[in-house]
Amino acid sequence: MKTKRGQWANRWTFMLATAGSAIGLGNIWKLPYMIGVNGGSAFVLIFLVSIVFVAIPLMMTEIMLGRRGQQNPLNTMAKLAKEAGVSRWWRWLGGMGMLAGILILSFYSVVAGWVMSYIGEAMQGNFTGITAAQASEKFDQLLAQPKVMLFWHTLFMTMTMIVVARGVNAGLEKANNILIPTLFAILLILLGYSLSVGNMEASATFMFAPDFSKVTPVAVLSALGHAFFTLSLGMGSVMVYGSYLDKKESIAQTTLFIVLLDTLLGLLTGLAIYALVFANNLEPNAGPGLIFQTLPIALGSMPAGEMFATLFFMLVGFAAWTSAISLVEPAVAWLVETTKLGRIKSSILMGLLIWLVGVSVLLSFNEWSHIKLAFGLGIFDSLDKLTSTVMLPLGGLSMAIFAGYLMKKSHIKEELRIKGVWYQFWKIANTVIAPVAVVIVFLNLLGVF
Ligand code: TRP
Repeated sequence: MKTKRGQWANRWTFMLATAGSAIGLGNIWKLPYMIGVNGGSAFVLIFLVSIVFVAIPLMMTEIMLGRRGQQNPLNTMAKLAKEAGVSRWWRWLGGMGMLAGILILSFYSVVAGWVMSYIGEAMQGNFTGITAAQASEKFDQLLAQPKVMLFWHTLFMTMTMIVVARGVNAGLEKANNILIPTLFAILLILLGYSLSVGNMEASATFMFAPDFSKVTPVAVLSALGHAFFTLSLGMGSVMVYGSYLDKKESIAQTTLFIVLLDTLLGLLTGLAIYALVFANNLEPNAGPGLIFQTLPIALGSMPAGEMFATLFFMLVGFAAWTSAISLVEPAVAWLVETTKLGRIKSSILMGLLIWLVGVSVLLSFNEWSHIKLAFGLGIFDSLDKLTSTVMLPLGGLSMAIFAGYLMKKSHIKEELRIKGVWYQFWKIANTVIAPVAVVIVFLNLLGVF
């Protein structure tokens, strides 16, 4: 018997939703600071190469798996493994993805909480004339107050679970249809502002003038890892979204559109941020604090800075929201499709679980800062490292191998509907390029290089 599943109204809503999943803290918070600490243009170049040769083919694969399976990632992989005549163990690839989503969202929500608290700060004009020391202190103070972080984390998780509980059409689709266009509108306004008061030339030089002396192994590896993260790959977000996509839509075209939008948004945000940073003679390599510490200093000293700071943090908040939805959707879809709980109860249950893990994350900045987990890191950093450098690449690698080596060619052609060099490109990327790239990342993690 088939239960009734949601389906995107059309290809456009699927593209917006997947773009909404892809565009998030990864683009606006992580990419700009990674560009800064990894030497600017060299990092951008490697990132773009990783996008073209690894991320695009893998995104096609992940959408394809989801659409063929028509279920949550775990059941999808079980079904496809059966169809391909291979071990049922493959379903744990879907299971690991759902777990990764739960873990990522638990710290993602805490960071989104910082963003929301900064919307409030910006609205009150608290960045006006702020010095570097004051900006750092403001951020440190936030991290030192578990109750304040708990409030924002709880609010963000509630917002996320309300959308998810409403389901594919009334929730996910509606939210993305409104939020993504708003996001681009805000970004354009900010770019205009940056163009008029910032130092766009220095910013463009920093980001795009090739300087190969700065290509280091670390830069290569983090660029590749970030290509996964920013496009939501390797975990099942894209797979579950693909499972709601109509059979008649083109996977290749939608993938290209989504990747283009995500990359464009990341690079444009970077340009806007660095134009403001350079106009104020600030350092580009501030690290994770870039948008929380450096940007307030820059905006706080500029005309109408508060208003643009408010807009900026709203942009980040919206982006985080649409990504958060996709992080939990695989796990909620699994509960809905394997238990009798129904969508609302499943959402509440998953939301509570993630919220709870998130509480330990926010405590790791203060009361629990002495607790060390994986790699000798605190709770926040361990979760980030474990998911982005181990679980996502492992997920992506497994999907590539499954599709590249195990699936029947006729099934692949039926879904992807690409021919000639495009098919060859997809095939080589999934059988050789992506696996080799991921294995190199792992060997490096193990300290082989
Ligand atoms: N891509 C999002 C960002 O850039 C985060 C995200 C959503 C994600 N779903 C994901 C990352 C799945 C990895 C896997 O902020």
